Amino acid sequence: MRLRALARLALFAVAPIAAISQSSLTNSPARKPAQKSAPRPAVAQTPPMGWNSWNYFGRRVTEQDIRDAADQLVASGMRDAGYVYVNIDDTWEGDRDANGVLHTNSKFPDMKALADYVHSKGLKLGIYSSPGPLTCAKFAGSLGHEVQDAQLYASWGIDYLKYDLCSYRSVMQQKAPGDQAEQMSLMRSAYEKMHQALESTNRPIVYSLCQYGWDAVWEWGPKVGANLWRTTGDIHPEWNSIYTIIGNQAGLAKYAGPGHWNDPDMLEVGNGKLTLAENRTHFSMWAMLAAPLLAGNDLPHMTPEIKAILTNRDVIAIDQDKLGREGTRAYVDGEVEVWTRHLSGGALAIAVMNTGSDRWPSHPFHLNLAKLGLHGPLQGRDLWAAKEITLTDNMSLEIGSHDILLVRVAKPR
Ligand code: GLA
Repeated sequence: MRLRALARLALFAVAPIAAISQSSLTNSPARKPAQKSAPRPAVAQTPPMGWNSWNYFGRRVTEQDIRDAADQLVASGMRDAGYVYVNIDDTWEGDRDANGVLHTNSKFPDMKALADYVHSKGLKLGIYSSPGPLTCAKFAGSLGHEVQDAQLYASWGIDYLKYDLCSYRSVMQQKAPGDQAEQMSLMRSAYEKMHQALESTNRPIVYSLCQYGWDAVWEWGPKVGANLWRTTGDIHPEWNSIYTIIGNQAGLAKYAGPGHWNDPDMLEVGNGKLTLAENRTHFSMWAMLAAPLLAGNDLPHMTPEIKAILTNRDVIAIDQDKLGREGTRAYVDGEVEVWTRHLSGGALAIAVMNTGSDRWPSHPFHLNLAKLGLHGPLQGRDLWAAKEITLTDNMSLEIGSHDILLVRVAKPR
């Protein structure tokens, strides 16, 4: 992320001000509502699912792309499979007016109308900002306008905020030169500040931290109200990026649970030159990791194979399992990794991932059930072949390069 973000020097031309009446929005804490309102519904009780504009559109995204994405989520069956958040990433922001109220740029002429459209499809709308003066793409951030911005989002009907550290790093360095501990403390306070601002709107808004996993964010994210936090730098649509991110998640499982999730970044399924096997493995492992499933592909031009991966209900059910226990790496044998995830009702998901070259009958991989504390034979379901499978002690498995066997076992003995 860092290099890529720093490399983004050119400013996108912003046009003035959308005609939305926002003059009542101030940056002082919200007045107490006259009547005590009902408690807000808890959000992100399972990992958020939806789509985000960044991985495919980057800076080019427009309101029309968001409308098209919403349409396609419905038409493709993805909404009905659980993908409900439509998240606008960076580059929607315009200028602040004399009252400090932020306006959209010309790519997003009417955010309220867009939110209404997205909501009319049974979907929710997400947005993006930074605790710094500028976002990573150098658009206006929320520094000094946190309450005002949170109120603005609520007035539009925003349901999800991704809050990306970006230029706040410079603020930290300027305020506490050479003092890393103080810099990190400033960062935590900045995230807490926006949490309080979101709370003051009294609207249920998913709060997604994006600071690339700095300062062991999983240890303090829940304390600053985060529903999810990025654990890594930016993902890229290539195997090495996905494989590296998977490796970095080992050891983080205990920090995830209902309402607060590790976020290994948005999905690249269907992007770049990932093979179908790599797309399957990427999606399977995000499910094993109880990761947010935010598709990032070109929905209107999605191939049937990619749609089949993204809408595999058995795999989604692993991700969305209500127990909310993230999977862990059980053992590694050469180039093959075996991960398990405990599911509700005593079920277990087992993922066998071949990170190396193809395994043929001449040298198959042997699954060691004893290392998982299990004994065969075990009846399970192969979630990609969509058929029953019997796991036996030391069984031979031929798994293609960068492919995965994902099995759900109802109740292992
Ligand atoms: C950072 C984030 C990305 C994306 C871009 C937008 O790099 O990590 O996910 O939001 O900023 O500029």
